[in-house]
Amino acid sequence: MSRRQLQPGRLVLATHNPGKVVELAELLGPHGLEVVSAGELGLDEPEETGSTFIANAELKALAAAKASGLPALADDSGLCVDALGGAPGIYSARWAGPDKDFMVAMMRVRDALDLEGPRNAHFICALSLAWPDGHVESVEGRVDGMLAWPPRGDNGFGYDPMFIMDGKSRTFGEISRDEKEADNHRARAFLLLRPLLPARG
Ligand code: IMP
Repeated sequence: MSRRQLQPGRLVLATHNPGKVVELAELLGPHGLEVVSAGELGLDEPEETGSTFIANAELKALAAAKASGLPALADDSGLCVDALGGAPGIYSARWAGPDKDFMVAMMRVRDALDLEGPRNAHFICALSLAWPDGHVESVEGRVDGMLAWPPRGDNGFGYDPMFIMDGKSRTFGEISRDEKEADNHRARAFLLLRPLLPARG
């Protein structure tokens, strides 16, 4: 089946996270899309009941597209640690607890790990583009690396201070925002989505 192409016009960003809205709006701007967030439209956030990143991104994108009558883009991302069978994975945000404290989440990862063992990990970002008629297109970007302990650097967010991407010596918390955004799991997913977007103006 051929992949569906998005036409120029309004696109809902199915996220209530202002940081993600800014980051995705910057990436989408050159494609002639007028971005409006789910928060601005007063749309409810569905519960993330999927068992994969793509399932969760799809359910968020579909809910926003159906409620707004416009195409919608959603993302779902997280950190997967090989020695923990892929945890925290889709539960990455939840490991930070109700206070969204990522020092707590990073300590949970460290406590679960055998510190002498391998520390391979990767970040995943799923992006889903959904239409009001229920059609959905999804892509997934991945970046591999190693866990560092103790956490290093104040840049970035989430698990950034404990992740060193392959080929780098500093954590995502230590490198600049520009360097991180130039090539990470979100950038790689966006590259895969680009052929479905209107041509850049
Ligand atoms: P989501 O908002 O449900 O997609 O949750 C994603 C969670 O995964 C975030 O709250 C972060 O904890 C983590 N995460 C995803 N991408 C990154 C990243 O680039 N750096 C650090 N943590 C990330």
